[in-house]
Amino acid sequence: MKLSFSLLLLLTLFLISEVNGQRRKPRPTGAKSPQLPTPPVAEPVEPTELPPPLPPGPPSVFPDCPRECFCPTHFPDALYCDSRNLRRVPLIPSRIHYLYLQNNFIDNLQEESFKNSTELKWINLDNNRLQKVDKQILQKLNNLTFLYLEKNQLKEVPSFLPTSLEQLRLSRNQISKIPTGVFSKLEQLILLDLHHNKLSDGVFNKNTFNGLKNLMQLNLAHNLLRKMPSGVPSTVHQFFLDRNSIEDIPNDYFKEFPNLTFLRLNYNQLSDKGLPKNAFNISNLLVLHLAHNNLTQVPFINTKLEHLYLNHNAIKKINGTEICPLPFLSYEVFINEPEKAPSLRYLRLDGNQLKPPIPLDLMLCFRLLQSVVI
Ligand SMILES: *[C@@H]1O[C@H](CO)[C@@H](O)[C@H](O)[C@H]1NC(C)=O
Ligand SMILES: *[C@@H]1O[C@H](CO)[C@@H](O)[C@H](O)[C@H]1NC(C)=O
Ligand SMILES: *[C@@H]1O[C@H](CO)[C@@H](O)[C@H](O)[C@H]1NC(C)=O
Ligand SMILES: *[C@@H]1O[C@H](CO)[C@@H](O)[C@H](O)[C@H]1NC(C)=O
Ligand SMILES: *[C@@H]1O[C@H](CO)[C@@H](O)[C@H](O)[C@H]1NC(C)=O
Ligand SMILES: *[C@@H]1O[C@H](CO)[C@@H](O)[C@H](O)[C@H]1NC(C)=O
Repeated sequence: MKLSFSLLLLLTLFLISEVNGQRRKPRPTGAKSPQLPTPPVAEPVEPTELPPPLPPGPPSVFPDCPRECFCPTHFPDALYCDSRNLRRVPLIPSRIHYLYLQNNFIDNLQEESFKNSTELKWINLDNNRLQKVDKQILQKLNNLTFLYLEKNQLKEVPSFLPTSLEQLRLSRNQISKIPTGVFSKLEQLILLDLHHNKLSDGVFNKNTFNGLKNLMQLNLAHNLLRKMPSGVPSTVHQFFLDRNSIEDIPNDYFKEFPNLTFLRLNYNQLSDKGLPKNAFNISNLLVLHLAHNNLTQVPFINTKLEHLYLNHNAIKKINGTEICPLPFLSYEVFINEPEKAPSLRYLRLDGNQLKPPIPLDLMLCFRLLQSVVI
């Protein structure tokens, strides 16, 4: 007893009795463009009327610079046409690699705008009025790696995208359909962001994501899912499903994801009944978010897990012996081979029906715990 007591003193523990609200969400990685200062958008006179395009800027040192855009002298491969109340995409010069068109009123892409721009690597069309992307317009941009189409009015995932694409960001649209075969040639795609759309269970089958052989991050948060989607590529490392209405996780669902390290399921309807005992025994998982669900028990976790978020559930008690992924290590073994201990370092339990103190058996199991919020 004396031994374990001094061990407890060794562990740095912060007991915080109450933590208000959610922590800030980590942003998925993916560099955003360097932004130049842009003039404020004028308010429309009538609510239904679009503001007029801004007057053309001063002549550029580049004779091919579209007058409605800005061509920075020191970045001859970048073209800034963002926040200019544009209705259509100007003719893009062939030297351009980075194209900024966000915050306009563009509702249609025309083939002729892109006829010369075969070297484009990056297009930002966030916050426009696109309802669809017509066939073939972007497909021949075979150097395109980043396509941002967030905050438009798309109803389905665009077809005919270039095979070079690595990041496709489609969040904050009204996407309710994923046409068959739409990803079939996107072998290089690493990131697919579909959060905040209208995707429901019926959209997903085992072929939905066919072709995505290298997908690492999939964001399906804030949709209409009640079930875990099928067909998710087994290559994913980061999988986000927050703010759906998922009630259960099928047996062995995560067996197919040997490299999954980061899983978010905050704000769903998960209950103990919906979780098979080994649901989260995912061999390489490091971070697991299960906050704001309806769990009454702490689920069983894998040895490597480092961060576990269980705040705002209905947990009444926690038994460290039962959830320990390994038999307790003796103090001697832990001192000599600390890497043998379960890796959990950070645990959030606030917003449940638990009261301090933290049970001793929890500390005896997770000897690397640095912080428990209860
Ligand atoms: C389009 O590309 C062709 C061939 O490189 C060039 O001759 C023409 O001037 C370009 N047009 C524009 C408007 O950039
Ligand atoms: C653009 O793509 C073509 C064909 O895929 C390739 O040959 C060329 O090197 C690429 N250009 C750049 C600037 O990456
Ligand atoms: C998991 O990662 C390893 C090592 O990077 C890789 O060899 C393997 O193919 C990956 N497995 C899947 C299913 O992506
Ligand atoms: C958890 O998964 C590991 C590795 O797949 C396995 O060895 C272990 O037995 C599992 N734990 C339980 C309690 O099933
Ligand atoms: C949570 O679970 C309890 C008991 O199982 C149930 O009565 C309650 O309706 C559930 N709440 C939600 C939001 O699902
Ligand atoms: C925790 O679980 C173990 C094994 O099931 C049991 O022996 C022990 O009494 C439990 N501890 C408490 C405090 O309920």
